[in-house]
Amino acid sequence: MPAPPSRSGPFWPWAPRRPRPARSARPAPCPARSSDWLTLLPDGAEKRQFIIDCTNCHQFGARQALPDGVPRAGAEWEAAVTRMVGYAGATTRFPIISAGRDPAATARWLTAALGARTPAATCDAPLPAGATVTEFLMPDSSDLPHDLLIEAGGRVLVTGMFTHRLWSLAPGATAFTEIPIPVERANPRAIEADDAGDRWLVLGNPHRLARWTRDGRWDSWDVGMYAHSLAPDRQGRVWFNGHFTRAPEQIGYVEPSGRVTTIDVPAHPALASGPGGPIPYELRVAPDGRIWMSELQGNRIIGYDPARRTFTVRDLPTPVSAPRRFDIDARGVLWIPAYAGNALVRYDPAADRFETIPMPVRDAVPYVVRVQPRTGTLWIGTSGADAVFAFDPATRQFTTYPLPSRGAVVRHIAFDPGSRDVWLAYGASPGIPARIARLSP
Ligand code: HEC
Repeated sequence: MPAPPSRSGPFWPWAPRRPRPARSARPAPCPARSSDWLTLLPDGAEKRQFIIDCTNCHQFGARQALPDGVPRAGAEWEAAVTRMVGYAGATTRFPIISAGRDPAATARWLTAALGARTPAATCDAPLPAGATVTEFLMPDSSDLPHDLLIEAGGRVLVTGMFTHRLWSLAPGATAFTEIPIPVERANPRAIEADDAGDRWLVLGNPHRLARWTRDGRWDSWDVGMYAHSLAPDRQGRVWFNGHFTRAPEQIGYVEPSGRVTTIDVPAHPALASGPGGPIPYELRVAPDGRIWMSELQGNRIIGYDPARRTFTVRDLPTPVSAPRRFDIDARGVLWIPAYAGNALVRYDPAADRFETIPMPVRDAVPYVVRVQPRTGTLWIGTSGADAVFAFDPATRQFTTYPLPSRGAVVRHIAFDPGSRDVWLAYGASPGIPARIARLSP
């Protein structure tokens, strides 16, 4: 496999860094969650945009708002937001913060909303009877465990986005082993298996998709863009989307022959023309073969029918709601976490109808939804609540599973095909030492 060109310059000026303990290390029996902090901010579109821009890498909580136990002053907020916009503002190489993010205005809004207020301590309810959560520390505490894949025998594969490594946790083991990826600074993110059992990875910074076959061979293809997600279809194609593509916004696929095709997506009406893009996000293949994608900043979901080469474009019902890592159930219904809208949004393409189901906790910040294929239960990982929710679409009931750690930005959920176990990847930067968790419901 040819070595891809290495891209010069630090892509993440902020990473990897050793996590350092929060400065407000006041021991509290039940420290407030990020969701409790967010609840202090006034609801509305401005708050929703703040949640999109400012809880992408780390939670928003005491570490940000209460350094050394003292409320952060306006000038300190302005300085911090100026740094953040320098890392990931609309004109940087990792433009996930919106173009309108103004440090001085953000500082005024935060100091007006927070003043000297701090949320009350919140103790967790116990786990549902019989349930357990076990955490496994990643070998490098400053890694960002992005996605997980649980193989047939129960082996867990984890992409280490900041260490450039693929990690493996054998069934029953507590320590990880490394699976070297033969691409320099591989920056692995999404991982999925195709129907044949070969694993596919997004290698973000090298702009490649890689395949690691069952017999241990690696191949990779230049896809010409920093991909975010990948999705194998039933015809052997593997679809991807360009995280920072804007004009044009693009999806594409790799064929079994290795041929790469890209397709332009209908332009976003407001965000196509300037910096700070729609931010293509999740990508999934529906049972009818259509490809669906969400836009984190653009608030749209977009369907592509490869047979007819036609698009379906829909805005989410709530503006600035941030459709994030959605999934599609066996009937073709999309279940979308509205990250900033704090809702589970159901979209049925057959009826062309949206339904908004509020989360059971205020400002939970739902990040990822995955449908358990054997039970149909929806599992929802959050960025704010330090909890995972299970939603039964038949009874419409949520069950809450509090996590043992504060600071768990749950970016991905995967199921063990051989048991009822649900695996979670917590990724935050900066945050608590990197870890994944096994939830046995
Ligand atoms: C691209 C990732 C990223 C985004 C997006 C981001 N941050 Fe940060 N943030 C960091 C990193 C990394 C640090 C630690 C290094 C530093 O303080 O510069 C940090 C630190 C901070 C701190 C200092 C507290 C600490 O951890 O020491 C504050 C306050 C903060 N961020 C607020 C914000 C706000 C408000 C936004 C939205 C405008 C935001 N962050 C968006 C990555 C991010």
